[in-house]
Amino acid sequence: MYAVAGSHTETILSIAREHKIPISFDCADGECGTCMIKVSSLSDKPRMGSFLTDKEKVVLKEQGKLTAEELEKAEVGDQPPAWRLACQMIARDEDILVEYT
Ligand code: FES
Repeated sequence: MYAVAGSHTETILSIAREHKIPISFDCADGECGTCMIKVSSLSDKPRMGSFLTDKEKVVLKEQGKLTAEELEKAEVGDQPPAWRLACQMIARDEDILVEYT
């Protein structure tokens, strides 16, 4: 999908829904893990840091998609992990590839 991040308040899931991209979701509230996505950069630049929500950390850890090391990098080194929840991740001004099932 190509979408403009716009207000910086919209989640990947809401942008996907606006553009009829069928990312699966259930709770839309960071609890079920249905909306798991894999995010990578499409440019040479490293990905921009973005904070994981507390709910997102819990779900990603439970599903084995976030190690303690990745969490530390995300929080200290500002390096976002590959796996995110589409309903929790806010889109930023960067070119990213979002893979979903
Ligand atoms: S839809 Fe449930 S965690 Fe995102």
